[in-house]
Amino acid sequence: MKNTQNTPHNQFDKKAEAWSARFSEPVSELVKRYTASVDFDKRLALVDIQGSLAHAKMLAAVKVITAQDLADIERGMAQIQSEIQAETFTWLLDLEDVHLNIEKRLVELVGDAGKRLHTGRSRNDQVATDIRLWLRNEIDQLGDLLKALRRALATVALQQADTILPGFTHMQVAQPVTFGHHLLAYAEMFGRDASRLEDCRKRVNLLPLGAAALAGTSFPIDRPMVASLLGFDDVCQNSLDAVSDRDFAIEFCSACALIMTHISRLSEELIIWMSPRVGFIDLPDRFCTGSSIMPQKKNPDVPELARGKTGRVNGNLVGLLTLMKGQPLAYNKDNQEDKEGLFDTADTVRDTLTIFADMIAGIQVKPAAMRAAALQGFATATDLADYLVKRGVAFRDAHEAVAHAVRECEKKSCDLADLTVAELRVFHASIGDDVHQVLTLEGSVAARDHIGGTAPARVRQAAEKILAQTHVIQPL
Ligand code: ARG
Repeated sequence: MKNTQNTPHNQFDKKAEAWSARFSEPVSELVKRYTASVDFDKRLALVDIQGSLAHAKMLAAVKVITAQDLADIERGMAQIQSEIQAETFTWLLDLEDVHLNIEKRLVELVGDAGKRLHTGRSRNDQVATDIRLWLRNEIDQLGDLLKALRRALATVALQQADTILPGFTHMQVAQPVTFGHHLLAYAEMFGRDASRLEDCRKRVNLLPLGAAALAGTSFPIDRPMVASLLGFDDVCQNSLDAVSDRDFAIEFCSACALIMTHISRLSEELIIWMSPRVGFIDLPDRFCTGSSIMPQKKNPDVPELARGKTGRVNGNLVGLLTLMKGQPLAYNKDNQEDKEGLFDTADTVRDTLTIFADMIAGIQVKPAAMRAAALQGFATATDLADYLVKRGVAFRDAHEAVAHAVRECEKKSCDLADLTVAELRVFHASIGDDVHQVLTLEGSVAARDHIGGTAPARVRQAAEKILAQTHVIQPL
């Protein structure tokens, strides 16, 4: 698109055209730039046209404008749309925002019919409608991307259902888990994120148009008709609320902040796993960069940036909450500040999810390093305690006995599994010849065989379930 142009010589003329003769002096250049939004809200152009066409159809249906007016408006808008798509449309800062730029061009192209379009409407209900139309589409795209990411996680989880790595609490080895199980934890998080977005969509998908500036309009409008033309589920029920609140955008940003929080947690793990000191995974080179000075480096830039970008998405949420909190009814210009943070949030999350689905699908797993790490840190100590409980020992006594065994192993620098049955029996007489079965990593994970447990069979089941949920039928 062409850059916005400043045309000082005619700026007041342009404004005067937009505002009528109410004003006696032009705004300064700085104030004009300060109050304009066209540089960023031109992004709403296509939904703005979509909303205007539905409004015009309705005005014609209730006979506020003629069929000829409607035809002229439709013809003009078709041309404007193609100019915008061809990037030949001239955006003028003097015309403040996307709405006035398009309306002015419409009048240029079709004359009086263009001047009738704004009947029974205000930019206040117009912009609220535009944002909702735009956001609905963004939500649907993010829903698809979350599906793709969950699918990638479940696909790798299925392949790695038997791969053992240490599970951690407090960043210390706790109990062995499978890598598939670990990845599916994130698939659950992203599943909840998707349902949060779906829920948010219900409150986004309501029509503000008809609220006009704040009080409604004296024209015999048909709001349900406009709602149905635009695919809204219903109309907003109160005109003051419809033009002023942006809670739907805040909800979206909140759902996005949680998506990024989950992405950030996963990123942190990828970074740790990829650190040469840990070496559990490698990431494909296309997600990493080298160092300008240290030739040996391969840095996990993508997860690090995603972790960093979580900050801006959280910031956008706080920005919108703060924007809204002091506003009395109804529309205030403060609301023009809703857009950049909202756009940035959607862009950041869209790019992040797109990259992550690809990156997770390409993760290179190093099972030997995972296994070696799981063999350190007494990961099967709980299994030994459980073994004693199954032989009639009270859990607290079993816990105590195993704690003594662990101390002994620490002294000897060996693992529990390295002690003989006789050595283990020193800590509790109930320990039998079969004890080593529960001290193996495979025995430990296989024993956790219930819904939500880490047993490979359960992990396979859980992965298959997610793959079925995220199955996308490819168009022919
Ligand atoms: N550009 C404005 C916005 O984004 C449109 C609504 C302006 N309404 C007004 N009364 N100034 O909010």
